[in-house]
Amino acid sequence: MILRGRLLSFHRRPEDLSDTASYLYEEDGGLLIEGGRITACGAFADIRAEAPEDVAIVDHRPHLILPGLIDTHLHFPQMQVIGSYAANLLEWLNTYTFVEEQRFSDPAHGARIAVSFFDEMIRQGTTTAVAYCSVHKASADAYFAEAQRRNMLMLGGKVMMDRNAPDALTDTPQTSYDDTRAVIAEWHGKGRNHVVISPRFAITSTPEQMEMAATLAREFPDLHIQTHLSENLAEIEFACSLYPKAKDYTDIYAHYGLLRENMLLGHAIHLSERERDALSETGAVAVHCPTSNLFLGSGLFPLKEFERRDRPVRIAVATDIGGGTSYSMLKTMDEAYKIQQLRGERLTPLESFFHMTRGNAEALGLADRIGTLEPGTDADIVVLDARATPAMALKMEAASTLAEELFLLQTLGDDRAIAETYIAGRPAKSAI
Ligand code: GUN
Ligand code: ZN
Repeated sequence: MILRGRLLSFHRRPEDLSDTASYLYEEDGGLLIEGGRITACGAFADIRAEAPEDVAIVDHRPHLILPGLIDTHLHFPQMQVIGSYAANLLEWLNTYTFVEEQRFSDPAHGARIAVSFFDEMIRQGTTTAVAYCSVHKASADAYFAEAQRRNMLMLGGKVMMDRNAPDALTDTPQTSYDDTRAVIAEWHGKGRNHVVISPRFAITSTPEQMEMAATLAREFPDLHIQTHLSENLAEIEFACSLYPKAKDYTDIYAHYGLLRENMLLGHAIHLSERERDALSETGAVAVHCPTSNLFLGSGLFPLKEFERRDRPVRIAVATDIGGGTSYSMLKTMDEAYKIQQLRGERLTPLESFFHMTRGNAEALGLADRIGTLEPGTDADIVVLDARATPAMALKMEAASTLAEELFLLQTLGDDRAIAETYIAGRPAKSAI
């Protein structure tokens, strides 16, 4: 199959709007897909000439064809938490989230929500996501079974949490270890699944459970680890009071050997220079969740400061559903842009689209598989329509450059701008 359209794929993070060397843009492009992989990418005429005579051609002109969008932090059991009215993180967790997540002890509930969850990812053009499941192993089973059924490259983990939450939502150090091992044994490497070691955050894990997370991290050096860090000032104070020997919040995780390149730290807003250095030295990734940070009033993530330092902090971007308010990575970068505006910084549309695709793939260490249109990688692809709504079509009349079109997609776009989503070469959005 050949997809024909305007191809856009990044080689590296764009320095500024004039950095055309940072990406590939093919005005009349062709993408040859065979066996779920991209096998050639270039000018349509060249790809057509090389391909078998009877190859199917799907013409997506005038739309843009990009690698599928990647969401590096969200909560599978929070689809019915989104839009819950609360003053701040801890109130929101206790009032809504820790109540809702208890429903995932029921495997039938998890299975039902998994169908909606993956439908929604595909509708939004998100082809890979990194999710927290609930404390219940059954929720991870439901998540990974549905991911495998759809042949999607998904990451996720059973949450470890053994204190400061309702009894029905806590495990123990031992059961959190045993269940995580069981999830790894049953699901890691099945289909395109990646299991993530997932201690929720320092507040909901005892030191004994953190030891178990440390053991899992040692036993499985190739697995990702995810947790939350420094989202909210009251959270930071509470976490540090629970680990009085730690230098700061980051040091809690460092003490247990959790900081490493394949570790994802959700939020990481309020970090001292010492903490930023600790992330930089270990390569751990600060995951920016803009819609959530604004919704919960958590703070303004210093994305540009992190990237600009002598010792840069690696960053990724994410929705953080259900603290986040949109499943759309387009809307997510719209809010990321506004947060940098409030900090007096510039975030170009080229950078935004880099972060949603290759940037997040690099943050996950998976850029050899996803996040670009490079031959040999998986054919997870999104087709974007910058004229998807009347308001967008009207504004497009005034857009003359690629950057302007991308900025419009980010500012006014949402799931309506996703013309098609391909999962390993198969059209998935039109099939829902
Ligand atoms: N910190 C610990 N758990 C959560 C969660 O579910 N959402 C957010 N936004 N922060 C958290
Ligand atoms: Zn989160």
